[in-house]
Amino acid sequence: MKKVLIVSYSQSGQLNEVIASLSSPLAADKHIQIIHHIITPKKAYPFPWSFMTFMDCFPESVYLDPCEIEAIDEDDNEYDLIILAYQVWFLSPSLPITAFLKSAYAKEKLKNKPVITVIGCRNMWVMAQEKVKVLLNDMGAKLIDNIVLIDQGNSFATFVTTPRWLLTGNKESLWGIFPKAGIHPDEIKNASRFGHAIKAGLQNNDEKNFNSMCHGLKAVNVNQKFIKSEQIGTKSFMIWGKLIRNLGPQGSAKRKPVLVLYTVFLIFMIVTVVPINMVIQYIIRQINKEKVLQEKELYELPSGSKDTRMKDFLEK
Ligand SMILES: Cc1cc2nc3c(=O)[nH]c(=O)nc-3n(C[C@H](O)[C@H](O)[C@H](O)COP(=O)(O)O)c2cc1C
Repeated sequence: MKKVLIVSYSQSGQLNEVIASLSSPLAADKHIQIIHHIITPKKAYPFPWSFMTFMDCFPESVYLDPCEIEAIDEDDNEYDLIILAYQVWFLSPSLPITAFLKSAYAKEKLKNKPVITVIGCRNMWVMAQEKVKVLLNDMGAKLIDNIVLIDQGNSFATFVTTPRWLLTGNKESLWGIFPKAGIHPDEIKNASRFGHAIKAGLQNNDEKNFNSMCHGLKAVNVNQKFIKSEQIGTKSFMIWGKLIRNLGPQGSAKRKPVLVLYTVFLIFMIVTVVPINMVIQYIIRQINKEKVLQEKELYELPSGSKDTRMKDFLEK
């Protein structure tokens, strides 16, 4: 019997749907036992968000300051594999997942264990995953796969549809030009291919050698266009986040004026500097093609973006 621990947190339930699809082949196997812990913050984050509450949680998100979460019941299970499903908040793991990764439970259960991360987000996840890699590494866990599902539509469309969904709860398509918000249902359905591959991997004892189980299944695709933006965005979040954190704890009135100022600054940057930077980055990418490709492949580890095993595991 193989024991698989799934840890997840989802506000809208979208990531739970991904997990349900992905884990269905595992759940159907009598040789696999699944234990699913849903992380619950002691003080729930709102959904939909108010704009100020949304912005107010960026400093803690980027600085990985954990929120308080309900304790996870102690168990004496030793897990063969851990699947950690998280969404991205401000280019960082969401605060409830940061809290889990910093918990005594995680430190005990993930030590020397193979971990598969599953990300459901708009489209910018690379820096968040780098932070998760450090947290996993610090506790001696071994990342063997990373699976990423992103919101449907191009980045211009999701720049409108994702915030609209988060701030109003409305996921519907808009004016016939913007698609629905969130991950496409077919993407969620097809996540079962990872479950089939993980099942085959467990049968093959791949977890014992910390081998990737989800390679060749288009588990991730790093969009080169976003790498630099994520790096610059992280720097900006760190600088402003430090300032705002020094003004008081989350929710404190003293933070509000600077949060408003930062929002104005951010909007100004998005309409002025970002487009100019996009052109400059395009030129740099053309000159440094080789380097950018290497960087892409590095961030895509350990699962990669190849599709060589799709026909073996994708349900018809
Ligand atoms: C506070 C906050 C910040 C977010 N920041 C990002 C981000 O930096 N990059 C990204 O791709 N998505 C971002 N998202 C979108 C989430 O990753 C995710 O797609 C969405 O919240 C739905 O997740 P759910 O499963 O919790 O409902 C953010 C969402 C929230 C609530």
